[in-house]
Amino acid sequence: MHLETTRFLTAEQTRGLAAAHGTPLYVYDEKTLRQRAGETLAFPNAYGLTVRYAMKASPNRRILRIFNEMGLHIDASSGFEVSRALAAGIPANHISLSAQELPDNLAELLDMGVLFNATSLNQIRTAGEARPGIEIGLRFNPGLGSGGTNRTNVGGPASSFGIWHEYAEEAQDLLQKHNLTCVRIHTHIGSGSDPSVWQRVALLSLKQVRRFPDVHTLDMGGGFKVARMQSEKSTDLQEVGAPVKAAFEAFASETGRKLRLEIEPGTYLVANSASIISRVQDVIDTGEDGYLFYRLDTGMTDVLRPSLYGAQHPLVVIPRSEGPERPEAEAILVGHCCESGDILTPAPGDPEALAPRSVSLAEIGDYVVIEGVGAYCSSMSTRNYNSFPASPEVLLNAAGGAELIRKRQPLDDIWALEA
Ligand SMILES: Cc1ncc(COP(=O)(O)O)c(C=O)c1O
Repeated sequence: MHLETTRFLTAEQTRGLAAAHGTPLYVYDEKTLRQRAGETLAFPNAYGLTVRYAMKASPNRRILRIFNEMGLHIDASSGFEVSRALAAGIPANHISLSAQELPDNLAELLDMGVLFNATSLNQIRTAGEARPGIEIGLRFNPGLGSGGTNRTNVGGPASSFGIWHEYAEEAQDLLQKHNLTCVRIHTHIGSGSDPSVWQRVALLSLKQVRRFPDVHTLDMGGGFKVARMQSEKSTDLQEVGAPVKAAFEAFASETGRKLRLEIEPGTYLVANSASIISRVQDVIDTGEDGYLFYRLDTGMTDVLRPSLYGAQHPLVVIPRSEGPERPEAEAILVGHCCESGDILTPAPGDPEALAPRSVSLAEIGDYVVIEGVGAYCSSMSTRNYNSFPASPEVLLNAAGGAELIRKRQPLDDIWALEA
């Protein structure tokens, strides 16, 4: 049988990479990364566009450098992410910090030219006390949000992200008190947002811009949907952006202010650029009325999204050698942690319910390729739980080679900092 995964890995490549690097193994595809970056750079805009990669999605320096080379800037969510981007060679003035927690070295980062969006009234105060007289951005919670799940909705009254939109006057008072100038309005309403809500928020944000005469840039955040599964639908950037462009034009003809647009996609840029090659390390069943389980050598230590959100990822069985075609089987795919929530096939949106998946009948030693793991997997997992070392990352580069871009974590690294 010659089974190909739906995205970028062939069966032969899967076996070859597993033999060369072991499993579990993240494999990124440079061609996909570049293609996605190109699509975001073509986002409709009236008076200029900056695309920022939300590096929290997958912060390996090789990925940051590919995007930097293509002209993308960086959205950082902590001072530590800023340091990581700087260490990767990203220029300070290409990095924008919008964080829930301010770094202790905020003043130093501001002096280097890192852009800063205050996400609370207290953050305006802190920045003003540290460096009075500077230009900053303000992240507002526009009063509504939208996410693929409730946990990824970061707008509206149930969200702590950004300055509540009704406190614009208090924000203005603080700016004045510290002689700060607001030059950017920033908003981000969630991951996997409904495109129509995203568009409505753009209009609400333009209203907010009216209050701040020095604002030259409106940053609309990220949140564009990506179809990992065939049944899901990706956001069409041209479609979602066209009315926003028209709104910027209408705003300019009314006010004379030609605003620059910023967007900050994470998921859109990387989600479908990576797969994990894992191995079926055991096959279990729970009797006639029970389930068939494939136990993988990966799980929430590498891909937490199913356990956290009930997220769905394509799962493709690759037999460990060529052979006759396998029949289909209904199986529950689980991870390697001693944790009942470590499951790759929850019901959609319900991490606590099991949803058997139709896959090829697998044997111990076969591979399972987990697709759509480029965003919030390597960067957001229960790394080192049960003392599993962090998995290596490989990039299938434009020249056709497989570059090791992160080594497998040495086991003693896990306890190296213990005193
Ligand atoms: C401020 C900000 N911008 C951009 C993003 C990227 O979102 P996504 O990966 O859904 O595009 C996030 C994600 O949480 C965010 O918090």
